[in-house]
Amino acid sequence: MQDYREFLGEVLIPEDQLQVRIAELGAQISRDYAGSDSLLLICILRGGVLFLTDLMRKISVPHSIEFMSITSYGIGGRASSGQVRINLDLGVDIRGRDVIIVEDIIDSGHTVAAVLDLLTTRKPASICVCTLLDKADRREVAVPVKYTGFSIPNKFVFGYGLDIDDYYRNLPFIGVVDLEKYQAG
Ligand code: IMP
Ligand code: MG
Repeated sequence: MQDYREFLGEVLIPEDQLQVRIAELGAQISRDYAGSDSLLLICILRGGVLFLTDLMRKISVPHSIEFMSITSYGIGGRASSGQVRINLDLGVDIRGRDVIIVEDIIDSGHTVAAVLDLLTTRKPASICVCTLLDKADRREVAVPVKYTGFSIPNKFVFGYGLDIDDYYRNLPFIGVVDLEKYQAG
């Protein structure tokens, strides 16, 4: 396993900037949902886990958390399509709840669009998307995003929940992969 320093192109978002922005998002969500008594944060495993646990500590409104694991079928490479398979479904009925979907990154938009469609059929009182990162240039389907941490350029990033071949999620910052220096496998 390579040390990440061998393929780190640049630190795109350092830890302190991440935490400042997450505190702002938490404060904004706390204001927007001040009257709600049914707030539910739904984290899409696994990339969104670090973001969820930091974000929820900055939300002062009472809320619960749930997890969902899905696979979106690729159309080659790491591109995703509109088809999603549920690997782990929610443990609760979301009917009448105020739902926020917490995601690590929105790229083509297919994954979160499919999750939104699916969860909307379960009749929540409200549903919206909160993403830490947004690669808006890559969008293939329109997704309504209510909360965005950072808009980033079209580069492959890792750290703070985001993986390269399932590793490096533990790093506290967002880094850009230098693909010429990264050795797959
Ligand atoms: P979408 O369906 O194309 O929007 O794909 C979103 C998913 O692709 C995210 O939840 C990530 O798992 C993955 N992804 C997209 N871009 C990156 C990246 O730069 N680094 C790591 N994972 C990424
Ligand atoms: Mg993900």
